[in-house]
Amino acid sequence: MNPIAPDKHVSRRGFFELTLGWIAAMFAVCASAVGAVRFLVPNVLFEPSLVFKAGKPEDFPDGSVTFLEEERVFLVRQGNTFRCLSAICTHLGCTVNRTGQGYHCPCHGSVFDDQGGVKSGPAPRALEWFLVTLSKDSRLLVDKNQRVNSDKYLVL
Ligand code: FES
Repeated sequence: MNPIAPDKHVSRRGFFELTLGWIAAMFAVCASAVGAVRFLVPNVLFEPSLVFKAGKPEDFPDGSVTFLEEERVFLVRQGNTFRCLSAICTHLGCTVNRTGQGYHCPCHGSVFDDQGGVKSGPAPRALEWFLVTLSKDSRLLVDKNQRVNSDKYLVL
C-alpha cells in the first residue's frame, strides 16, 4: 500500500460535510443571481395620471368655483368659459380653501386673490392654472402637466 495515495473512501461525516458545503455554495450562487436580476429591474413608482376628466360642462353652474377634492383643483366657470386652478399652496403644499375674495391656506396663512396671485405670504408664487380642453366625449379634460396663464380659458 502506498502511504501517500489519497483515500478513495469518504466517511459518512465527510459526505455530510461535502453535501452541506455544496448546498451552501449553491445558495450563495442563487442569492447572487437573484440580486443581479433584481438590480436590472428599475425601481419605478407608478403615479396616477395628471390628466383627468372633470365632467360635463353643464355639471358646473355659471359663476361657480367647484373644488374637486380628489384632484385638488378648483374648476372655475364664468359664462361659457372654463379654467382650472390648483388648490396646492406654493409654500409647502397644503390644500387651500376658497374664501369670499380668493383662497386661503390654513397651514401658514397665505392668502391668494381670485386669480391665484399672492396677496400675502409666506407663499412664494401664485397658484397654478392648468390647461382645460374638451375631450371627444364632450367632457372637460384637465391636464395638470400643462400650466397656463390665468387668462387662458376654454371657451364653449
Ligand atoms: S403651506 Fe400654505 S402657507 Fe404654508
